[in-house]
Amino acid sequence: MSNYHIKNFPEYYHVYRNSVRNPALFWEEIAEEHFIWKKKWDKVLSWDFTKPEVKWFDGAKLNITENCIDRHLATRGNKTAILFEPNNPNEPSEHITYNQLYKRVNQFANVLKTQGIKKGDRVCIYVPMIPELAIAVLACARIGAIHSVVFAGFSSTALATRINDADCKMVITADGSFRGDKTIDLKGIVDDALEHCTSVKKVLVAKRINSNVTMKAGRDFWLQPLLDKASDDCEAAEMDAEDPLFILYTSGSTGMPKGMVHTTAGYMIYTAYTFKNAFQYKENDVYWCTADIGWITGHSYIVYGPLANGATTVMFEGVPSYPDFGRFWQIVEKHKITQFYTAPTAIRALAKHGTTFVDTYDLSSLKVLGSVGEPINEEAWHWYNDSIGKKKSPIVDTWWQTETGGIMITPIPFVTPTKPTYATLPFIGIQPALLDENGKEIEGNQVEGKLCIKYPWPSMARTIWGNHKRYKDTYFSAFENMYFTGDGALRDEVGYYRITGRVDDVIIVSGHNLGTAPIEDAINEHQAVAESAIVGFPHDIKGSALYGFITLKDVSDYRDHDNLRKEINQLISDKIGPIAKLDKIQFTAGLPKTRSGKIMRRILRKIASKDTANIGDTSTLLNPECVQEIMDNSL
Ligand code: PRX
Repeated sequence: MSNYHIKNFPEYYHVYRNSVRNPALFWEEIAEEHFIWKKKWDKVLSWDFTKPEVKWFDGAKLNITENCIDRHLATRGNKTAILFEPNNPNEPSEHITYNQLYKRVNQFANVLKTQGIKKGDRVCIYVPMIPELAIAVLACARIGAIHSVVFAGFSSTALATRINDADCKMVITADGSFRGDKTIDLKGIVDDALEHCTSVKKVLVAKRINSNVTMKAGRDFWLQPLLDKASDDCEAAEMDAEDPLFILYTSGSTGMPKGMVHTTAGYMIYTAYTFKNAFQYKENDVYWCTADIGWITGHSYIVYGPLANGATTVMFEGVPSYPDFGRFWQIVEKHKITQFYTAPTAIRALAKHGTTFVDTYDLSSLKVLGSVGEPINEEAWHWYNDSIGKKKSPIVDTWWQTETGGIMITPIPFVTPTKPTYATLPFIGIQPALLDENGKEIEGNQVEGKLCIKYPWPSMARTIWGNHKRYKDTYFSAFENMYFTGDGALRDEVGYYRITGRVDDVIIVSGHNLGTAPIEDAINEHQAVAESAIVGFPHDIKGSALYGFITLKDVSDYRDHDNLRKEINQLISDKIGPIAKLDKIQFTAGLPKTRSGKIMRRILRKIASKDTANIGDTSTLLNPECVQEIMDNSL
């Protein structure tokens, strides 16, 4: 009997040891005992990080939706699978049982088929947090279409780039979305994007805000009438273990986002197993992850991981501040939430209001609290622990990435003693390593280095869509025979890991992973801009915020700097989305450069974080004189 559910620390230790001594055997037992297969595998694992190529359960046939839905029908048919909580607290919540989910996914899958979608086709899903989003994702998986969910807060340009990169045949969207007291015209954004996309033949539109949208004849269809006509019976496509399940874009160090490709069997097993253990999910628990399904957290821990365990998973359409800062806690009380998983930025924003909004609600149902997306600072950790968890609900600080598919370093609640700001120990099967500048592994404890993973795990991304070379260069070239995460970490005296932050050009703002290059590219498109450099600086709520240093082509033309700042932020908003707007913009005469012309972001980072005492030697710069000018005028 495999150790599917870890209950105490000695057991964690024992299982962990087995999982790394013989990973193939370990994961094979989990796969055998806890999932359903149309055909078993020929080989559990084959891998070569030099290519890189990784295959789990090669030769196996399965469909992930049978594991997430069909197999629960006999025992949990009337159990709530998805609990939808709308933006407006006066609108009723919706309980979708496993029986209903089965029918709705099948109907949607049949609509996809009649609209020409086949196995392997890419479908872009640009839908707000309404049930149709989860159902669309599952419907694609049902027929073997590859879903590419784009967060419905991205701009039309960002959407078009992603549609074109994956050559999507269809876009699924909604007329609009509710966000607090605002509405967003999603269909309008899609229409703008599609001006630049030739691959899209059909657009399915869910009705959410009842706005007047333009429907292009022959291309655009209202979803509901098609669903009403569709059969609720749809055979699940037989997929290979290594068939792509989805593409999900994440920022990189060049302007082009990276379409991370996740495959079927390994992703399913790992997200299911981590969900069960990292949240200690029990049969009648009501689990809530506040993320959007547009991010990996939502894919793995709103949809696939919970449903593979027959769990009840909450989908929340709204924002933490609407109608007031008590909304999260009101939902916890209303649905008797047992596991609550959110991001440090939300915790900090809520903590700012003390406990006024917390004390009104009964939070006694909570058993486990989770954190994800960025390092959680000590103050936020304690507020979460004391005011929300009442010191009785362990906080699982889960470290992982879009690329890793599932949680990699985390405490297991009630098993691993927690430590504020530490993600603690590697999850079962995960072999982390810290490397020094020379690519040598740093052994022992109380050390710091670049965080790598030494051995494949089932849910790792297999490639970047259409660009395997970039996959190799980004993740497997920095260190020999290792997956490089892009993060720095330290290991304390007992072997606990603490993530210290990115060591590359990615900045995490409010838990969103933003590459500096695409933002700089957007800014440089402004006719007044000669050059720009973006760095992060510490921010109370967002964790990090963006600081732009910008040189202008002709300063005299643009004396109204405030207006120019607005134009630049509007441009960023249009090209990427409002999440990438700059908090501070400083116009400078020059940017510090090395003699080879590379902008020295290290110096700008020091200036932005007001740490000019440690700016270091600037004498080797091409233009050292600009540093003083930038310091004098810093914001
Ligand atoms: O820097 C790490 C940070 O978020 C990055 C991954 O971002 P993304 O692919 O958008 O996925 C976020 C959700 C899994 C990581 O490289 N990060 C994520 N979780 C943590 C974290 N940093 C510190 N502590 C965490 N728990």
